[in-house]
Amino acid sequence: MSYPYQIKSAAQYQDAYKKSKEDPEGFWSEVAEGFYWRKKWDKVLDWNFSEPKTEWFKGAKLNITENCIDRHLEKMGDKPAIIWEPNNPEERTRVVTYNRLHKRVCQFAQVLKNNGVKKGDRVCIYMGMVPELAYAVLGCARIGAIHSVIFGGFSAQSIADRLYDANAEFIVTCDGAYRGNKDIPLKSVIDDALIGNRTVKKVIVYTRTRTPVSMIKGRDVWWEDEMEHAEHQVEQEGKVTFPAEEMDAEDPLFILYTSGSTGKPKGVVHSCAGYMVYTAYSFVNVFQYEPGDIHFCTADIGWITGHSYILYGPLAAGATTMMFEGIPTWPDAGRFWDIIDKYKVNILYTAPTAIRSLMGFGLGHVHGHKLDSLKVLGTVGEPINQEAWNWYDENIGKGKCPIVDTWWQTETGGILISNMAGITPAKATYATLPLPGVDPMLVDENGKEIEGNNVSGNLCIRHPWPSIIRTTYGDHERCRLNYFSAYPELYFTGDGAYRDEEGNYRITGRVDDVLNVSGHRLGTAEVENAINMHAGVVESAVVGYPHDIKGQGVYAYVIFEHVHGDENLTRQDILQTVTRVIGPIAKPDKIQFVPGLPKTRSGKIMRRILRKIAEGEMENLGDTSTLLDPGVVDEIKKGKL
Ligand code: WTA
Repeated sequence: MSYPYQIKSAAQYQDAYKKSKEDPEGFWSEVAEGFYWRKKWDKVLDWNFSEPKTEWFKGAKLNITENCIDRHLEKMGDKPAIIWEPNNPEERTRVVTYNRLHKRVCQFAQVLKNNGVKKGDRVCIYMGMVPELAYAVLGCARIGAIHSVIFGGFSAQSIADRLYDANAEFIVTCDGAYRGNKDIPLKSVIDDALIGNRTVKKVIVYTRTRTPVSMIKGRDVWWEDEMEHAEHQVEQEGKVTFPAEEMDAEDPLFILYTSGSTGKPKGVVHSCAGYMVYTAYSFVNVFQYEPGDIHFCTADIGWITGHSYILYGPLAAGATTMMFEGIPTWPDAGRFWDIIDKYKVNILYTAPTAIRSLMGFGLGHVHGHKLDSLKVLGTVGEPINQEAWNWYDENIGKGKCPIVDTWWQTETGGILISNMAGITPAKATYATLPLPGVDPMLVDENGKEIEGNNVSGNLCIRHPWPSIIRTTYGDHERCRLNYFSAYPELYFTGDGAYRDEEGNYRITGRVDDVLNVSGHRLGTAEVENAINMHAGVVESAVVGYPHDIKGQGVYAYVIFEHVHGDENLTRQDILQTVTRVIGPIAKPDKIQFVPGLPKTRSGKIMRRILRKIAEGEMENLGDTSTLLDPGVVDEIKKGKL
């Protein structure tokens, strides 16, 4: 298989970019010719950013799983689609060919049908990184059910909120998940999430760890039993079929919850056709994937990176994608390098936080590995610092692998700003240039465009690309307010950026109240809400501070009624509450008890001051004269952790 839309030189990139700007509809309809459509579109694009409304490939009919699986079967049925590496390196690995993937997805689609799931129903998926997670996601897509994958680090309460928001009737989970030396009891978390829930009708449970689980009659069913039954239904005379549901281009494909500046996570909705075209296009071009290459994206499928660049993008391109169940530091910090040598991985796509953490373990874990199969390295999720970039380049890429620094978001569906490996130049710490079809601009506080080079501003995008967010589930106005209202007629990313003399973009970080902790997004308001639920907490304010490994750490200032006994135990109590309300990923790194918070006379918390103190900047706090009680700042400075 070759990719008609693959860019092969810097000149071709320039041409493609120019064409995409002059004639976006012509450009994307040409790219879309490289996919399988039951019926082609009537209109390439219909849009306005004021509602907002974005409809790509309007009138087209398709099923994304026919593009990700069926169309590859004839020529590549025996080729590996997914290579799975278990948490425990001693356990047997699994290679899932396209034929096998087809069979399993058909079977699971039949299981969903047997359990009453219909097109448009919401199915929540809470599983570890096992191939069955891929079958569950693609099985939903095959029958047109909307999947909502929830990362394993979220608590029962977070799951309950998401089930409620999406009005989900079905759950797919595992008894437990292996991560390093831990065994995480997923089904038991689901059971807690379901206390008081009235919408969920069925829970399908895959056995991974054989942890004892409660199975409620009439509600909970075993994956294995259901799959066995379905096998007889989908297989006749050795031939497997399960007709894919015919979807409209704009039918929703999935919901993925993400944090914003308000206390409540938003359900970002992506639709079928645009998401498919853009993830495959960006996958092939950014990583310069060649047929036969092995692509290893280390993200979890619970995040957008896993959706777009472990599953949909690579599979739509007929690629071989790795799925790793474990963590980079177990059994030791050489695990990624073991995997790369074992499978001869060609493309490694990971997060700066993982690189920094592995750097910390020293080169001893890298030595003894060949790593000579690697052709391309990538990073995602947060800005990469020069030191980590150099380490990655020298020790992993051996100075011969281009590094792509890919900037994008849950809401953008795919990579928007990045160099293309070996095609357009890399520049350390810069995401560099927009992909064809992406029209970024910088604006000032008042929404006025900042033109020219060597300038900084808030990063906005002018024109829709195919995988732009369509809505926030159940609340379209929230989508408009969050992304399309700060600057009229523009998509606002929430990030700040710098543009150099060659037009390269460097992402400088969030300009809103969103933190990026180990590449995970957390809303400060969300963490504050969780802390405030703890008995005895009067008020709290959460800010980020620079953290060597996590990128940003979470610093919480907490007013407590009166601390009983040991302050450290009270801190532990608060951490427990945050773990219950959101999950372990949101635990603050530092909790400082304070007598008050710096507030303006109108009662607004001056976060700027708190941020500076958390960063260790004790002088130059700026103007504090408008504070209600300037004395509180000195108290806070004294107690800094
Ligand atoms: C940040 C992850 C700098 C950014 C795909 C964005 C980055 C947020 C980069 C989205 C990068 C992502 N350089 N910052 N290459 N990639 N970010 O939704 O602040 O989990 O807004 O999507 O991560 O995080 P999300």
